[in-house]
Amino acid sequence: MRLDKFLADVGLGSRKEVKVFIKKGQVQVNGETIKSDKFQVKEKLDQITFEGEKITYQKDFYYLLNKPQGVISATQDNYDETVLDLFSDEEYREDLFPVGRLDKDTEGLLLITNDGVLSHQLLSPKKHVEKEYYAHVAGIMTNEDITAFEAGVIISGEEQTLPAKLTIVSVDEAMHTSEIKLILHEGKFHQVKRMVAAVGKEVTYLKRIRMGNLYLPEDIELGSYRQLTEEELGKIKGE
Ligand code: URA
Repeated sequence: MRLDKFLADVGLGSRKEVKVFIKKGQVQVNGETIKSDKFQVKEKLDQITFEGEKITYQKDFYYLLNKPQGVISATQDNYDETVLDLFSDEEYREDLFPVGRLDKDTEGLLLITNDGVLSHQLLSPKKHVEKEYYAHVAGIMTNEDITAFEAGVIISGEEQTLPAKLTIVSVDEAMHTSEIKLILHEGKFHQVKRMVAAVGKEVTYLKRIRMGNLYLPEDIELGSYRQLTEEELGKIKGE
């Protein structure tokens, strides 16, 4: 592949910016300074350095973010902070986007990638990729609610949901509150909140804890992110 494409793919800068680095002699291939942006490199074999630092080839980027409340699942916004505003200058790339959406006030697992194919696979309604949520509820969740969710409920008076698995984690009779876990196989707008509303209660706190077989790790603080490990990537790709 062309040297300028290689450098742009790894996120060193835009195609235009990396051409300038090359012209200035800041890039070496196998120890030799290369000043032609058309120079062909073997991305897996050649040793490519920028100002003496080795660059490892990576085209697809996969991050796991523990989304905090107050930020929106978009790439750019004029009013609100977005999940991509949480990225450092070094790791931010213009082609990154969140895989699906969590509400502004929802926390938890959000994948951020530039891999449109994987995103499509994870979001495709046909694939029924499981999403698991943990929630606090105002009101007492009951065994009838478990049965109702198992059958699928009508939300907002019109939309039928697929069967979902509700687990009641705890109930506080005195406070009239519950803690639940809910596994969905689809991703309708505000789905958890609307399903709980359909059985007459209200979600007061919501966090996504799993997508497919990828769990939100406990050691990632709210607002923090890191690249997926090879193992996690294999899991989410179903390999
Ligand atoms: N369901 C909701 O109601 N909100 C989310 O953010 C995700 C699922």
